[in-house]
Amino acid sequence: MSDELQRGLEGVLVAESDLSYIDGEVGELQYRGYPIEDLARNATFEEVLYLLWHGELPDRDALAAFSERLAAEHAVDDAVIETLERLVEADERPMAALRTAVSQLSASDPEPDADPEDVEASLRKGRRITAKIPTILAAFERLRQGEEPLEPQEDLSYAGNFLYMLTGAEPDDVSEETFDMALTLHADHGFNASTFTSIVIGSTMADLYSSVTGGIGALSGPLHGGANQDVMEMLFEIDESDKGPVEWAKDARNDGVRIPGWGHRVYKTKDPRAKILQGKLEDLAEASGGSKWLDYTTEIEAYLTDEGLVEKGIAPNVDFYSGSVYDHLGIPMDLYTPIFAMSRAGGWIAHVVEYQEDNRLIRPLSRYTGPRDQEVTPIDER
Ligand code: ACO
Repeated sequence: MSDELQRGLEGVLVAESDLSYIDGEVGELQYRGYPIEDLARNATFEEVLYLLWHGELPDRDALAAFSERLAAEHAVDDAVIETLERLVEADERPMAALRTAVSQLSASDPEPDADPEDVEASLRKGRRITAKIPTILAAFERLRQGEEPLEPQEDLSYAGNFLYMLTGAEPDDVSEETFDMALTLHADHGFNASTFTSIVIGSTMADLYSSVTGGIGALSGPLHGGANQDVMEMLFEIDESDKGPVEWAKDARNDGVRIPGWGHRVYKTKDPRAKILQGKLEDLAEASGGSKWLDYTTEIEAYLTDEGLVEKGIAPNVDFYSGSVYDHLGIPMDLYTPIFAMSRAGGWIAHVVEYQEDNRLIRPLSRYTGPRDQEVTPIDER
């Protein structure tokens, strides 16, 4: 056993997985061998979920049956809505509200005693959780706007139903396709912090609700999923200041501030998902005639590239362009990270199920650096 310390588990190989292939040097991502660019163009989020959970792309019949079963699970209990009402009253943040509500979902699971080793039962649980996340988020948003939550529409796609429940109107094709593609791009990404958190929890043979709840907690941090909101806040800050984007980025560099949406533990070049989202943002900017966010992000990227960041392996990640895309779709800023969770839940579930099939409790070591053999002085003598 090596006693070399690997801070942050950087570069440590802990498991084998058939789910996502990442080459961080060239900027390549594949789900089960399918390049992300191809999936983004040619597969819906439902097809991607099927691929991650069942190991292959569905044919039309399999997809129709899968989508129907998923859509049939969208509704949540009144008790969950009541919890959301209380959380709105308490001014809870959406990501924390999602974490609480997902945890509560287990109370109405029809198979509470299912064995985690029963793959089919776990996938049924995973389907229920994934189906209910959009309903929870849309209900939370409507409640805090003082509006009644809307019933899910089973005949809409996963992406379309979420946008409908959020806004009360069926989305246009461009919004639905764009959102669907964003969900595909975020669905899986190897052993990132939130996926690993879910797997650690799953490795104790705890149930999927625990794994997904833990995953949401890990994803909420600014070093992980929280960065997409930080990028948008940065863009608004630039817009409201008298500084241009380059001047803002220059000052941030001088102040030693990390640029949100830049840098990645695995990618040492531009994240392939960022490239796809940048292209989408270009389309949306052209169609809407509003290119402000595209201009700001492009200028910041050009400046930081000139400054040599990309050469040093610090490049735009998926979060650098996703917020601007969501802003074009009219989605509130503090829902960006919860939306990430909506998509990534598919990956967490796939990984936990895969890991539990050949389970080994995850239990690393720490090197003790404190004092030893101390004597306890009775409290009155301390
Ligand atoms: N802006 C400026 N410099 C950066 C940035 C950044 N965003 N990210 C890393 N660096 C620099 C560090 O200062 C460090 O420089 P140094 O060696 O001169 O001190 C060097 O790059 C290496 O940084 P580490 O912290 O060791 O890299 P690590 O792999 O731990 O961090 C992380 C990766 C956490 C994502 C980091 O790049 C970061 O904080 N980025 C901003 C937040 C962000 O965008 N998170 C989303 C990641 S993608 C995702 O989770 C979906």
